[in-house]
Amino acid sequence: MHGTRSLALQTKQGSLAKVITTAPILTVPTTPFTDQKPGTSGLRKKVRVFQQAGYAESFIQSVFDAVPGHEGATLVIGGDGRYLNREVIQVAIRMAAANGFAKVLVGQGGILSTPAASHAIRKYGAIGGLVLSASHNPGGPNEDFGIKYNVSNGGPAPEPVTEAIHARTLEIAQYRTIDAPDIDLDRLGSTQVGAMAVEVIDPVADYAELMESLFDFPAIRALLASGFTLSFDAMSAVTGPYAHEIFETRLGAPVGTVVNGTPLPDFGHHHPDPNLVHARDLYERMMGPGAPDFGAASDGDGDRNLIIGRGQYVTPSDSLAVLAANAHLAPAYAGGLKGIARSMPTSGAADRVAAALGIPLYETPTGWKFFGNLLDAGMATICGEESAGTGSDHVREKDGIWAVLLWLNVLAARRLSVAAVMADHWAQYGRNYYARHDYEGIATPAGDALMAHLRESLSALPGTQTAAGTVEAADDFAYTDPTDGSVSARQGIRVLFAGGSRVVFRLSGTGTEGATLRVYIEACEPAGGNLTQPAAEALAPLVAAAEQLARIAHFTGMDAPTVIT
Ligand code: G6P
Ligand code: ZN
Repeated sequence: MHGTRSLALQTKQGSLAKVITTAPILTVPTTPFTDQKPGTSGLRKKVRVFQQAGYAESFIQSVFDAVPGHEGATLVIGGDGRYLNREVIQVAIRMAAANGFAKVLVGQGGILSTPAASHAIRKYGAIGGLVLSASHNPGGPNEDFGIKYNVSNGGPAPEPVTEAIHARTLEIAQYRTIDAPDIDLDRLGSTQVGAMAVEVIDPVADYAELMESLFDFPAIRALLASGFTLSFDAMSAVTGPYAHEIFETRLGAPVGTVVNGTPLPDFGHHHPDPNLVHARDLYERMMGPGAPDFGAASDGDGDRNLIIGRGQYVTPSDSLAVLAANAHLAPAYAGGLKGIARSMPTSGAADRVAAALGIPLYETPTGWKFFGNLLDAGMATICGEESAGTGSDHVREKDGIWAVLLWLNVLAARRLSVAAVMADHWAQYGRNYYARHDYEGIATPAGDALMAHLRESLSALPGTQTAAGTVEAADDFAYTDPTDGSVSARQGIRVLFAGGSRVVFRLSGTGTEGATLRVYIEACEPAGGNLTQPAAEALAPLVAAAEQLARIAHFTGMDAPTVIT
């Protein structure tokens, strides 16, 4: 039986100085779970997996064990509000106290968007943070949960750290916690948990202030006041409170600009993924009569973005290129960009901008964690991925609201429609027609067999005739980090055609069941070429080539993708 006890500390003079409530540290035996290898973005599993006795605890203890120097340090904790968020936060707070952290900062209500968590880690000098989210995956008792550890630069743990965490999960024998009651997550202010201070912080204020320091809010306010209309779909996920504060309160957009603005544990039964399938309502509004000038959405944890102008969808790859080309119009980037980084499957549209600006372009594997070193080293300022992530060196995560604000800042400065900005961009740089075809829910062995087949046929691919022309080159992408020389191999098969067109194949690293094959299709059209085709038409020959080379139907048993974005 463990009760809490109070220690009355005496000063040298003997007067009562302070009362500290401590609680005994409990050491709980556990056995390793063999499925705790972090994926592209932390450990993601079904809620029922996380509900196994000791499951979350074993992973959190493995994180703490893999982070030297955590004793006496500050830890940030927050999540996207999904089912299990509050429970795991209470567990993590007790464990942090038992593991010797001096302080935990936790977002009110357990809420912190991923970029806001990144900012909090940086602003308060925390050693790291636990971000509780499964990002764009659905939430609820039968859906997904996740725990991601971010390091002191505010970014996702790099591979050596995730590998150390994984190694620890395989040998862990016990975890530490204390016997202490839940804290009130809804009340701002400090509480003592054992010897550790817990501070419940406003999840929005610091982040909103950061945004205001980066962008020309008066110009955006003037744009909105001039009748420019905006619709932001928070998808019943974490960005609701941020979007209400920033767009409606600080920038003066009318109430109602933000839709689905209350975070719900199951995201209202929706899939909080801002793409053309799951943000269909927004897409249809933007394409229909009476569409607002600008539509945007963000995902479960607020790091992804979807940008749609009136009648004009902007692919994430194009969005990165346009933002990079126009970033100088926002105060934070007025001095120019140091470099641009994109994940390998992201289109080469940003490469053309980097070339025109005379700045380096870095091509990294999929996963935001690969941008951290480049940002820390001052080699890149803006980063982006085809998976709807864009961000900059203001934090070490991609940032959905940031992307919307940079777009608004650009539109406020240029006073053009989104469609006009895109047409102008393509006219100047050429156009990279782009789509991603996902084959979800395939059996893991089938996905592995398809990739193995491609790897085996790599050396024979060059010279192969396809509907998209002759294959010029093919490889399995490997990345050498220019800052530390670390190598990440087997990051996806690239098949290259003349003029930069290509097809890329890889398996998703974020799913929780079975495998998802992603096929990334890109057709390059130079400036002066045919820039106004429907994307599906421009990409059709490459789609046929992808099927021919990878035998997708044969391996997956599916003759069409489940999602096209
Ligand atoms: C997460 C990561 C991204 C990554 C994306 C796609 O959102 O934060 O950096 O691009 O997942 O990953 P996947 O492995 O599913 O293609
Ligand atoms: Zn996300």
